[in-house]
Amino acid sequence: MKDQLKLTAAQGVLQFLEPYIELGVGTGSTVDIFIEILAQSGLTLSKIFTTSQRSARKLKLHGFDVLNLSEIKKPLPFYVDGADEIDSSLCMIKGGGGALTLEKIVAETSKTFICIADESKHVKKIGKFPVPIEVIKEAIKPVCWTIENELGGLPVIRKNFVSDHGHNIIDIHNLSFDEPKVMEEKLNSIPGIITNGIFANRKADTLLVGTPSGLKIFK
Ligand code: 5RP
Repeated sequence: MKDQLKLTAAQGVLQFLEPYIELGVGTGSTVDIFIEILAQSGLTLSKIFTTSQRSARKLKLHGFDVLNLSEIKKPLPFYVDGADEIDSSLCMIKGGGGALTLEKIVAETSKTFICIADESKHVKKIGKFPVPIEVIKEAIKPVCWTIENELGGLPVIRKNFVSDHGHNIIDIHNLSFDEPKVMEEKLNSIPGIITNGIFANRKADTLLVGTPSGLKIFK
């Protein structure tokens, strides 16, 4: 059932795309479905960038020519990606798949960020899903200390996982989400954290939600 809802959301993207457009493609199971749809659509895209090795492999498997992210130029017209949680103002928690660093870079570069999600991700208030952070190895202990003692969060190092950049991911539980932008900034200011998974300062522009009664669009 969830896959059907993801499919509904992913299919909805096609109405926004035109041939020869430049596209950023994110990471995750919803994006995997979107890549299948893109392949079947017959759309010729002028440039494709992506946020993970996983998506690059899948795109290449479908015959898409994936460019190196270092060639990306602002503004990228469209970026399509999933989320772990998204609220009605389109603030998100992302990074469940550990690709948050490139996701934040592509989001920041893009003109229009389209988030695709099944309805379970669309929540009143974000914060139930733990916030992933990508951290350099030497900073793990001090970062965990600061999170526990200054932010009241509970950091859990993700087991058997390293990011595409070779770093650890720590999932933070119990953070306060009364002001998502403020929490994003606080995490941004802790030395050793490369990226945090709160997308509140650069949130999505459009949300496509797959529901049992069809596609719902939020802007
Ligand atoms: C990866 C992400 C994904 O967009 C997020 O985890 C949602 O994934 P899925 O579509 O598998 O539920 O941020 O880093």
